[in-house]
Amino acid sequence: MSIYPIILSQTKFAHRDSLQYPFEERGLQFGDGIYEVIRIYHGEYYLLEEHVSRLFRSAEAVKIQLPFEKEELKTLLNTLLTKNDVQTDAKVYLQVTRGSAPREHTFPVGVAANAYVYVKALPRNLEFLENGVGAITQRDVRWENCYIKSLNLLPNVMAKQEAKEHGCYEAILNRDGFVTECSSSNVYLVKNGEIFTHPATRNILHGCVRIRVEQFANRLGIPFNEDGFSVTDIETADELFLSSSTSEIMPIVTVDDKPVADGKPGKITQQLQEAYVIDANIETKKVEQTN
Ligand code: PDD
Repeated sequence: MSIYPIILSQTKFAHRDSLQYPFEERGLQFGDGIYEVIRIYHGEYYLLEEHVSRLFRSAEAVKIQLPFEKEELKTLLNTLLTKNDVQTDAKVYLQVTRGSAPREHTFPVGVAANAYVYVKALPRNLEFLENGVGAITQRDVRWENCYIKSLNLLPNVMAKQEAKEHGCYEAILNRDGFVTECSSSNVYLVKNGEIFTHPATRNILHGCVRIRVEQFANRLGIPFNEDGFSVTDIETADELFLSSSTSEIMPIVTVDDKPVADGKPGKITQQLQEAYVIDANIETKKVEQTN
Protein backbone atom coordinates (compact mmCIF):
# COMPACT_ATOMS: atom_id res chain seq x y z
CA MET A 1 0.00 0.00 0.00
CA SER A 2 1.41 3.40 -0.91
CA ILE A 3 -0.30 5.07 2.08
CA TYR A 4 2.20 5.84 4.79
CA PRO A 5 1.46 4.11 8.14
CA ILE A 6 1.11 7.11 10.45
CA ILE A 7 -1.95 9.29 10.03
CA LEU A 8 -3.32 12.28 11.86
CA SER A 9 -6.68 11.70 13.54
CA GLN A 10 -8.04 14.93 15.04
CA THR A 11 -4.81 16.34 16.49
CA LYS A 12 -3.26 12.98 17.45
CA PHE A 13 -0.99 10.69 15.49
CA ALA A 14 -2.17 7.11 15.02
CA HIS A 15 -1.67 4.04 12.83
CA ARG A 16 -3.75 4.16 9.62
CA ASP A 17 -5.57 0.90 10.56
CA SER A 18 -6.91 2.38 13.79
CA LEU A 19 -9.15 4.95 12.06
CA GLN A 20 -12.86 4.13 12.50
CA TYR A 21 -16.05 6.13 12.06
CA PRO A 22 -19.62 5.30 13.13
CA PHE A 23 -22.39 4.73 10.53
CA GLU A 24 -23.84 8.11 11.29
CA GLU A 25 -21.03 10.37 10.21
CA ARG A 26 -21.84 13.59 8.37
CA GLY A 27 -19.09 13.27 5.81
CA LEU A 28 -20.28 9.76 4.92
CA GLN A 29 -24.01 10.57 4.92
CA PHE A 30 -24.19 14.15 3.62
CA GLY A 31 -20.76 14.87 2.17
CA ASP A 32 -20.91 17.52 4.90
CA GLY A 33 -17.25 18.42 5.00
CA ILE A 34 -14.28 19.98 3.31
CA TYR A 35 -10.86 18.78 2.19
CA GLU A 36 -7.45 19.65 0.77
CA VAL A 37 -4.92 17.80 -1.36
CA ILE A 38 -1.38 19.08 -0.83
CA ARG A 39 1.63 18.17 -2.97
CA ILE A 40 4.91 16.96 -1.50
CA TYR A 41 8.17 16.88 -3.42
CA HIS A 42 11.06 14.92 -1.94
CA GLY A 43 9.43 14.96 1.47
CA GLU A 44 8.61 18.69 1.56
CA TYR A 45 5.30 20.50 1.13
CA TYR A 46 4.66 22.70 -1.87
CA LEU A 47 2.22 25.64 -1.41
CA LEU A 48 1.43 24.63 2.20
CA GLU A 49 0.45 28.14 3.29
CA GLU A 50 -1.97 28.51 0.34
CA HIS A 51 -3.69 25.17 1.07
CA VAL A 52 -4.02 25.83 4.79
CA SER A 53 -5.46 29.29 4.11
CA ARG A 54 -8.00 27.84 1.67
CA LEU A 55 -9.02 25.15 4.19
CA PHE A 56 -9.79 27.87 6.73
CA ARG A 57 -11.78 29.84 4.12
CA SER A 58 -13.78 26.70 3.21
CA ALA A 59 -14.43 25.96 6.91
CA GLU A 60 -15.71 29.48 7.48
CA ALA A 61 -17.97 29.29 4.41
CA VAL A 62 -19.67 26.08 5.61
CA LYS A 63 -19.53 26.99 9.33
CA ILE A 64 -17.35 24.08 10.44
CA GLN A 65 -15.29 24.70 13.56
CA LEU A 66 -11.84 23.28 12.81
CA PRO A 67 -10.15 21.37 15.66
CA PHE A 68 -6.87 23.30 15.17
CA GLU A 69 -5.50 26.80 14.59
CA LYS A 70 -3.55 27.59 11.42
CA GLU A 71 -0.05 27.45 12.93
CA GLU A 72 -0.92 24.32 14.92
CA LEU A 73 -2.11 22.60 11.75
CA LYS A 74 1.07 23.48 9.87
CA THR A 75 3.16 22.05 12.70
CA LEU A 76 1.03 18.87 12.79
CA LEU A 77 1.34 18.47 9.00
CA ASN A 78 5.11 18.83 9.14
CA THR A 79 5.37 16.37 12.04
CA LEU A 80 3.27 13.91 10.01
CA LEU A 81 5.96 13.88 7.31
CA THR A 82 8.73 13.49 9.87
CA LYS A 83 6.98 10.64 11.69
CA ASN A 84 6.54 8.78 8.40
CA ASP A 85 10.06 9.70 7.27
CA VAL A 86 8.62 10.79 3.91
CA GLN A 87 11.41 11.24 1.34
CA THR A 88 9.45 10.65 -1.85
CA ASP A 89 7.08 12.67 -4.01
CA ALA A 90 3.69 12.29 -2.37
CA LYS A 91 0.39 13.96 -1.56
CA VAL A 92 -1.42 14.66 1.65
CA TYR A 93 -5.18 14.18 1.82
CA LEU A 94 -6.79 16.19 4.61
CA GLN A 95 -10.51 16.00 5.38
CA VAL A 96 -12.70 17.65 8.00
CA THR A 97 -16.39 16.83 8.40
CA ARG A 98 -19.04 18.31 10.67
CA GLY A 99 -18.71 15.23 12.89
CA SER A 100 -20.53 12.09 14.03
CA ALA A 101 -24.20 12.52 14.98
CA PRO A 102 -27.65 10.95 14.41
CA ARG A 103 -28.73 11.62 10.80
CA GLU A 104 -30.52 14.95 10.75
CA HIS A 105 -29.98 17.59 8.06
CA THR A 106 -29.54 20.49 10.47
CA PHE A 107 -26.22 20.95 12.26
CA PRO A 108 -25.80 18.78 15.38
CA VAL A 109 -25.29 20.79 18.57
CA GLY A 110 -22.13 20.36 20.62
CA VAL A 111 -20.55 17.87 18.20
CA ALA A 112 -16.86 18.14 17.36
CA ALA A 113 -15.64 18.05 13.75
CA ASN A 114 -13.92 14.87 12.51
CA ALA A 115 -10.52 15.46 10.95
CA TYR A 116 -8.04 13.06 9.44
CA VAL A 117 -4.93 13.40 7.32
CA TYR A 118 -2.89 10.78 5.50
CA VAL A 119 0.12 10.75 3.20
CA LYS A 120 0.27 8.76 0.00
CA ALA A 121 3.18 8.31 -2.39
CA LEU A 122 2.59 10.03 -5.73
CA PRO A 123 5.26 10.01 -8.43
CA ARG A 124 5.12 12.80 -11.03
CA ASN A 125 3.42 11.75 -14.27
CA LEU A 126 6.33 12.66 -16.52
CA GLU A 127 4.80 11.15 -19.64
CA PHE A 128 1.59 13.20 -19.44
CA LEU A 129 3.51 16.32 -18.42
CA GLU A 130 5.71 16.01 -21.49
CA ASN A 131 3.23 14.81 -24.13
CA GLY A 132 -0.03 16.27 -22.88
CA VAL A 133 -3.43 14.71 -22.33
CA GLY A 134 -6.88 14.53 -23.94
CA ALA A 135 -10.05 16.16 -22.59
CA ILE A 136 -13.76 16.19 -23.34
CA THR A 137 -16.19 19.08 -22.84
CA GLN A 138 -19.13 18.71 -20.47
CA ARG A 139 -21.85 20.92 -19.00
CA ASP A 140 -20.97 22.24 -15.56
CA VAL A 141 -23.93 21.07 -13.46
CA ARG A 142 -22.41 21.88 -10.07
CA TRP A 143 -23.76 24.27 -7.46
CA GLU A 144 -22.92 27.97 -7.21
CA ASN A 145 -20.30 27.71 -4.47
CA CYS A 146 -17.51 25.85 -6.25
CA TYR A 147 -14.92 28.06 -4.51
CA ILE A 148 -15.54 25.93 -1.38
CA LYS A 149 -13.46 22.75 -1.45
CA SER A 150 -16.41 20.65 -0.38
CA LEU A 151 -16.63 16.85 -0.14
CA ASN A 152 -19.72 16.98 -2.39
CA LEU A 153 -17.95 15.82 -5.53
CA LEU A 154 -20.61 13.74 -7.29
CA PRO A 155 -20.85 16.02 -10.39
CA ASN A 156 -17.04 16.08 -10.58
CA VAL A 157 -16.89 12.29 -10.21
CA MET A 158 -19.50 11.83 -12.98
CA ALA A 159 -17.70 14.24 -15.32
CA LYS A 160 -14.28 12.66 -14.79
CA GLN A 161 -15.67 9.16 -15.27
CA GLU A 162 -17.21 10.30 -18.57
CA ALA A 163 -13.78 11.59 -19.60
CA LYS A 164 -12.19 8.27 -18.65
CA GLU A 165 -14.77 6.35 -20.68
CA HIS A 166 -13.77 8.49 -23.66
CA GLY A 167 -10.11 7.61 -23.07
CA CYS A 168 -9.43 11.11 -21.74
CA TYR A 169 -7.75 12.57 -18.67
CA GLU A 170 -10.10 15.43 -17.88
CA ALA A 171 -13.53 16.95 -18.47
CA ILE A 172 -13.58 20.67 -19.32
CA LEU A 173 -16.73 22.08 -17.75
CA ASN A 174 -18.83 24.94 -19.12
CA ARG A 175 -21.83 26.98 -18.03
CA ASP A 176 -23.80 28.10 -21.12
CA GLY A 177 -20.71 27.61 -23.27
CA PHE A 178 -18.45 29.62 -20.91
CA VAL A 179 -15.59 27.42 -19.62
CA THR A 180 -15.32 27.36 -15.83
CA GLU A 181 -12.69 24.73 -14.93
CA CYS A 182 -12.09 20.98 -15.19
CA SER A 183 -13.52 18.26 -12.93
CA SER A 184 -10.45 18.38 -10.67
CA SER A 185 -8.23 21.14 -12.07
CA ASN A 186 -8.23 24.70 -13.38
CA VAL A 187 -8.01 25.27 -17.13
CA TYR A 188 -6.38 27.92 -19.33
CA LEU A 189 -6.35 28.81 -23.04
CA VAL A 190 -3.46 30.51 -24.83
CA LYS A 191 -4.16 32.74 -27.82
CA ASN A 192 -1.78 35.22 -29.49
CA GLY A 193 0.67 35.01 -26.58
CA GLU A 194 -1.95 35.69 -23.86
CA ILE A 195 -3.35 33.35 -21.21
CA PHE A 196 -7.13 33.30 -20.71
CA THR A 197 -8.88 31.70 -17.75
CA HIS A 198 -12.12 31.95 -15.76
CA PRO A 199 -12.07 34.69 -13.10
CA ALA A 200 -11.70 33.58 -9.47
CA THR A 201 -15.41 33.86 -8.68
CA ARG A 202 -17.69 31.47 -6.75
CA ASN A 203 -17.98 29.30 -9.89
CA ILE A 204 -14.49 27.80 -9.70
CA LEU A 205 -12.10 26.48 -7.10
CA HIS A 206 -9.39 29.07 -6.52
CA GLY A 207 -6.54 26.69 -7.22
CA CYS A 208 -3.28 27.02 -5.32
CA VAL A 209 -1.34 26.20 -8.49
CA ARG A 210 -3.53 28.79 -10.31
CA ILE A 211 -2.06 31.45 -7.99
CA ARG A 212 1.39 30.36 -9.13
CA VAL A 213 0.41 30.23 -12.83
CA GLU A 214 -0.55 33.91 -12.59
CA GLN A 215 2.72 34.76 -10.82
CA PHE A 216 4.82 32.85 -13.37
CA ALA A 217 2.96 34.56 -16.24
CA ASN A 218 3.59 37.99 -14.69
CA ARG A 219 7.26 37.19 -14.24
CA LEU A 220 7.57 35.93 -17.83
CA GLY A 221 5.71 38.96 -19.22
CA ILE A 222 2.80 36.87 -20.50
CA PRO A 223 -0.57 38.64 -20.09
CA PHE A 224 -2.85 36.74 -17.67
CA ASN A 225 -6.39 37.51 -18.69
CA GLU A 226 -9.30 36.60 -16.36
CA ASP A 227 -12.12 37.32 -18.81
CA GLY A 228 -12.38 33.60 -19.46
CA PHE A 229 -13.06 31.81 -22.74
CA SER A 230 -15.77 29.76 -24.40
CA VAL A 231 -15.92 26.20 -25.68
CA THR A 232 -15.86 27.48 -29.27
CA ASP A 233 -12.69 29.51 -28.54
CA ILE A 234 -10.92 26.16 -28.05
CA GLU A 235 -11.25 25.47 -31.80
CA THR A 236 -8.91 28.37 -32.60
CA ALA A 237 -6.71 28.19 -29.48
CA ASP A 238 -2.93 28.12 -29.78
CA GLU A 239 -2.56 26.11 -26.57
CA LEU A 240 -4.63 24.70 -23.74
CA PHE A 241 -3.43 23.52 -20.34
CA LEU A 242 -4.70 22.62 -16.88
CA SER A 243 -3.31 23.00 -13.38
CA SER A 244 -3.69 21.24 -10.04
CA SER A 245 -1.62 20.05 -7.12
CA THR A 246 -1.55 16.49 -8.42
CA SER A 247 -1.37 17.23 -12.18
CA GLU A 248 0.94 20.31 -11.92
CA ILE A 249 0.81 22.30 -15.18
CA MET A 250 -0.25 19.84 -17.87
CA PRO A 251 -0.76 20.42 -21.60
CA ILE A 252 -4.16 19.47 -23.09
CA VAL A 253 -3.53 18.40 -26.67
CA THR A 254 -6.94 17.11 -27.78
CA VAL A 255 -10.48 18.21 -26.94
CA ASP A 256 -13.49 16.14 -27.99
CA ASP A 257 -11.18 14.08 -30.26
CA LYS A 258 -9.91 17.17 -32.13
CA PRO A 259 -6.30 18.37 -31.80
CA VAL A 260 -5.68 21.68 -30.03
CA ALA A 261 -3.71 23.69 -32.64
CA ASP A 262 -1.09 21.21 -33.97
CA GLY A 263 -1.91 18.68 -31.24
CA LYS A 264 1.41 19.18 -29.43
CA PRO A 265 2.19 20.86 -26.08
CA GLY A 266 2.61 24.60 -26.64
CA LYS A 267 5.59 26.89 -25.96
CA ILE A 268 3.94 29.02 -23.26
CA THR A 269 2.71 25.91 -21.43
CA GLN A 270 6.27 24.59 -21.48
CA GLN A 271 7.65 27.87 -20.16
CA LEU A 272 5.17 27.71 -17.27
CA GLN A 273 6.11 24.08 -16.61
CA GLU A 274 9.77 25.11 -16.38
CA ALA A 275 8.87 27.89 -13.94
CA TYR A 276 6.89 25.36 -11.86
CA VAL A 277 9.81 22.92 -11.62
CA ILE A 278 12.09 25.73 -10.41
CA ASP A 279 9.49 27.10 -7.97
CA ALA A 280 8.71 23.68 -6.49
CA ASN A 281 12.46 23.00 -6.24
CA ILE A 282 11.94 19.65 -7.94
CA GLU A 283 15.09 19.12 -9.95
CA THR A 284 17.64 20.41 -7.48
CA LYS A 285 16.90 17.86 -4.78
CA LYS A 286 18.10 14.47 -5.86
CA VAL A 287 16.55 11.95 -3.53
CA GLU A 288 16.05 8.44 -4.76
CA GLN A 289 12.40 7.49 -5.30
CA THR A 290 11.46 4.53 -3.15
CA ASN A 291 7.73 4.37 -3.82
N1 PDD B 1 -8.25 19.03 -7.08
N2 PDD B 1 -10.56 22.80 -9.52
C1 PDD B 1 -11.07 21.70 -8.94
C2 PDD B 1 -12.51 21.38 -9.14
C3 PDD B 1 -10.24 20.88 -8.15
O1 PDD B 1 -10.76 19.80 -7.56
C4 PDD B 1 -8.86 21.20 -8.02
C5 PDD B 1 -7.93 20.37 -7.19
C6 PDD B 1 -8.38 22.36 -8.66
C7 PDD B 1 -6.94 22.79 -8.54
O2 PDD B 1 -6.65 23.24 -7.23
P1 PDD B 1 -5.16 23.20 -6.66
O3 PDD B 1 -4.30 23.91 -7.65
O4 PDD B 1 -5.27 23.92 -5.37
O5 PDD B 1 -4.78 21.75 -6.51
C8 PDD B 1 -9.26 23.13 -9.40
C9 PDD B 1 -7.52 18.19 -6.17
C10 PDD B 1 -6.12 17.96 -6.60
C11 PDD B 1 -8.32 16.91 -5.93
O6 PDD B 1 -9.53 17.04 -5.71
O7 PDD B 1 -7.76 15.82 -5.94
